[in-house]
Amino acid sequence: MFLNNRYNNGLIKYPGPFIASLTNMWRVRDAYVNGGKRPSYVTLHRVYGEVVRLGPKALSFASPAAVNDIYRPEKNMAKSGWYVAFEAHGKGRKKENIFSTRDIHWHARYRGLVSPGFKITNLAPKEKEVDELIKKLLRNLNDAARSTDKSSSLIDLPLHLQYFTFDAGGVFAFSQPYGFLDQKTDLDGIIQSVRVGSTHLNRLAQAPLGQLLFDKNPLAVYFGFIAPPMAFAKKYLPTQRIEEQLNNPNAMGQHHDLLDQFLEAHKNSPDIVTRNEVVDLGLMVVVPASEAVRTAIAALIYHVLKVPEVLTKLRREIDSILTDRDLIPSWEVVSKQLPYLDACIKETFRIHPSTGFNMERIVPAGGAVIDGHFVPEDSIVSCSTWVIHRHKPTYGDDIETFRPERWLEATSEQRAEMERLLCPFGFESRLCLGREIGLFEVYKVSATLLREYDFTLEKPNEDMRITWGNIVSVDFNVWIKPRKL
Ligand code: HEM
Repeated sequence: MFLNNRYNNGLIKYPGPFIASLTNMWRVRDAYVNGGKRPSYVTLHRVYGEVVRLGPKALSFASPAAVNDIYRPEKNMAKSGWYVAFEAHGKGRKKENIFSTRDIHWHARYRGLVSPGFKITNLAPKEKEVDELIKKLLRNLNDAARSTDKSSSLIDLPLHLQYFTFDAGGVFAFSQPYGFLDQKTDLDGIIQSVRVGSTHLNRLAQAPLGQLLFDKNPLAVYFGFIAPPMAFAKKYLPTQRIEEQLNNPNAMGQHHDLLDQFLEAHKNSPDIVTRNEVVDLGLMVVVPASEAVRTAIAALIYHVLKVPEVLTKLRREIDSILTDRDLIPSWEVVSKQLPYLDACIKETFRIHPSTGFNMERIVPAGGAVIDGHFVPEDSIVSCSTWVIHRHKPTYGDDIETFRPERWLEATSEQRAEMERLLCPFGFESRLCLGREIGLFEVYKVSATLLREYDFTLEKPNEDMRITWGNIVSVDFNVWIKPRKL
C-alpha cells in the first residue's frame, strides 16, 4: 500500500518529506509535533521549493500563479475531505455545512441566499449594541488597569478579547450577548473547548483514517477531544424565537440580525436553507469565528507592542482622529480615516493569518494545470495563507518583519498585487462570509484599546505562545495601565 501511495498517484516527481509520500500519518504527526509552533508549511516550502508533496495525493503550492489556477471558480475545484472533520453530527451521520460542503452547486445556491445577511450594511443597526459591548470590555479592563493591587493589572488580554468576540457574535447572530463580558469568565468552558477542539480537529482532519478512528469515538468525546458546541448551542440559542419565527411565516423579523436574514432565506427557499441550516449558520458565526477574531486583534496588539516606533506612529494617528474619548469610534471613521491602522491590520493578517490550514481542493476529472504543472485528477491541491503571505517578490525580502509601512510605500500596482494575494479570509467563491463582521470588530476594538491603555508585554523578550489548530491561536499576558494624555 505504501509503495502504491508513493508511486501510483502520478506525483512522484514532486519533492517533500519521504514519509509524506507513503502515508497521511506524516501530516497527523506533523500537526501533533508542531502544535506549539506556527504551521510548518512555511519551512517545508523553504526547504523543498514552490511545490511540496504533503501526502500520497496532496500537493501544496507557493506561487501566486497557483492561487488563480486552484481557486478561480471556473476551475471547478471542490473542497477536499479535510473539511469533513468540521461537520456536526446529525442523527448519527455527518452533515455538510456551508464551510465544509464539497457540493459546488449546492454551495453556490445556498451562499447566494444567505450572503446578503452577512453584509455589514445590512447589520448596521447592530453597531450601537456592539458599542455597548466594547464599553463592557473597557469596564472590565479598567478594573485591572486602575487596581491598586499591582498583580491585578497583569491580564490575559486575548482571553478578555474573546469574552468580547463571543458576545459580539451573539449580538450579530441573535441580538443577544451570551454574558461572557458580564460574568468575566469562560461560560461552560466553551472557550477552552473551542481551543481544544480546534487543535484536535486539525490533527485528525489530516488523514481520512484518523477521522474514521477518532471522530466518532465515544472515548475521544469522553476525554474532551471534541469541542461540545452543540451543548453550548442548546443552552444559549434563542430556540423560542427561532421556533416562533419559523412557525409564523408572516412574522417579519425586527431584529436586523443574522437570524432574521437566515429565516428570511428559509422562508423564500425552504428546500435549500432548511430549518437545520438556520441553526448551523448561527453556530458557525458564534463558535469558531470568535477565536479567529480574538486571534486577529490579539496578534495586532502584540506586534504593535513589539515595535515601539509603530506604536508611536499609530497612537499619533489615532489621537488626531479619535478625539472624543467618551465615544466608541464609529465603523465609518475607523475603516476610512485611519490609513496607518489599516496598514497595521493588513500587516498583522499578512504575518499571522488567523487560520493555519491549507485550503485544500480536489482536482476535477481530466486533471488540471497548476502553475505550469499537470496534476492528475483526484489529487488534493492547496495553498497556505502563511506561505502565500511570505512571497518575497510581492511583499519584499523582509517578510518575517512586522512592517506596516510596506503597505503605504508600495506603488499602486504593487499594492494591488499585495492586496490580491493577501488571503486571510480565503478566496473567491469560498471567501469568508464573516469577513466584514470580523474586520468591523478588529478595527473598532484595536483602535479603542490602543487609544485608552498603555500595555506592556509581561515577557517582552519572548515570543507569544502559539497553538496551531485550524486557528493559529496566540496567548500572552500584558500589564495594563490607563493612558494619560
Ligand atoms: C478575523 C476573522 C476571520 C478570519 C481570519 C476568517 C477566515 C476564514 C477562512 C480562511 C475561511 C475559509 C476558507 C476556505 O476554507 O477556503 C472562512 C470561511 C467562512 N467564515 Fe470566516 N473568518 C473570520 C471570521 C468570521 C466570522 C466573524 C464569521 C461569521 C460571522 C465567519 C464565517 C465564515 C463562513 C460562514 C465561512 C464559509 C464560507 C463559504 O465556504 O462559503 N468568519 N473564514
